[in-house]
Amino acid sequence: PLPEPFRVPLPVPPVLRPHRTDGADHYTITQRAATAEILPGVRTPIWGYDGIFPGPTIESRRDRTTVVRHRNELPVPTVVHLHGGHTPADSDGYPTDLVLPLSGWDTGHAGHGMADARARITNGERDYVFPMRQRAATLWYHDHRMDFTGPAVYQGLAGFHLVRDDEEDALGLPSGERELPLMIADRSFDEHGAFAYPSLDRTLRTTPGVESAYVEGVFGDVILVNGAPWPVCEVAAVRYRIRVLNASNARRYDLALDPPPPGGGGFVQIGGDQGLLDAPRAHDHLPLGPAERYDLVIDFGRYPVGTEVALVNRLGTGPTAQVMRFVVARRAADESRVPAKLGEIAPLTREQATTTREFSFRAGTVHGRAGWVIGGEPFSPDVMSASPRLGDVEIWRFVADIHHPVHLHLVGFRILSRGGRPPGPFDGGIKDTVDLNPGEAVEVIARFDGYRGRYVFHCHNAEHEDMAMMANFEVV
Ligand code: C2O
Ligand code: CU
Repeated sequence: PLPEPFRVPLPVPPVLRPHRTDGADHYTITQRAATAEILPGVRTPIWGYDGIFPGPTIESRRDRTTVVRHRNELPVPTVVHLHGGHTPADSDGYPTDLVLPLSGWDTGHAGHGMADARARITNGERDYVFPMRQRAATLWYHDHRMDFTGPAVYQGLAGFHLVRDDEEDALGLPSGERELPLMIADRSFDEHGAFAYPSLDRTLRTTPGVESAYVEGVFGDVILVNGAPWPVCEVAAVRYRIRVLNASNARRYDLALDPPPPGGGGFVQIGGDQGLLDAPRAHDHLPLGPAERYDLVIDFGRYPVGTEVALVNRLGTGPTAQVMRFVVARRAADESRVPAKLGEIAPLTREQATTTREFSFRAGTVHGRAGWVIGGEPFSPDVMSASPRLGDVEIWRFVADIHHPVHLHLVGFRILSRGGRPPGPFDGGIKDTVDLNPGEAVEVIARFDGYRGRYVFHCHNAEHEDMAMMANFEVV
């Protein structure tokens, strides 16, 4: 039986302290197997960064280098990607840049990744260097191993990485206890309380992909927020800054507040994937594809004390229609502000673009099985799909058969058009993931600056990604 909703208090992942700060902030994270009490009274085996799910939160300052040493005590190779990071290629977690298990690894079992001549494989640990030359934003880190990202993230390999800067600090947004990251992820459990992930190869060694019934994606019937099922959070009747991340493998949400505050517009969006919007935007609901983020201010002062405010999912049914509950517990003073002008966003226009490329995202055949392809091609480290020149502005046009949340590494982009029309109300600001609707074409524009090298772009439905919906670009 599913646990009763709104009983477990909302956990907030601990913020990791650097173990050394010199010119850079140095952290160490150990990836290991552990158990977690997710369903009350049940021990669920997980894979966690430092043994917890979500992993510890890292906080970086803009332009200050963060170095994270990851040690792999798991039984399989791993790869860490900082999602939304403006990261040099050798620290970006290319899917074959494996960190082999500390306990050793029989390379005969290595499967696909090890055949890549350009792979940077390390034994047991690796230092990821993040120069953080980027705006304040809600980033996250997660596993990214070729062919096996879905099961590894499902087992718990995901955490927040926040970037802060002076521009944002000066705004007077809610902070401290009144700033909450929410990692939303669905999971299914088997009869022993273990995560139920339908891998074809349960050892995650050779055969990628999931049982044929799950080719479109793995969906769970339990909604977790920060690793707790349908949690409850007591809030004061004041403004809160809420950073929402959809860390689900495949599930999309349409979030709403129930009841909405009098007058509506309960979600005041202040930022998207890549940081602040130019100005706040009020929404009554928020569509959220895998890997997308919203930075929000919710003013619980618009509700009478004692109100229970549910965060609901309008795309769900039964248990998946609920996400969590806020309880407006008490009155309090509120010095926070949401200024009418937020971030500086330099314009990018069609005229600046030197190249336009088009990529289709569709079902296809991958090594004789049902899978997913970009431009007709299944992922291979050897196939280069685009080679933008460093500093160039390009327009990329994506077309989809069904829903595909498309993510580019390295760059943030603006949405230029959606379905032949101007960008919609949720397409503002700088993004790194765009959810394509079925049959829709979306144009994005980006400047490929900062670093040369090989990067990937892919569908962030993790099952689609593992079943080959990924491609390379090389900044030259
Ligand atoms: Cu969040 Cu390439 O991934
Ligand atoms: Cu997809």
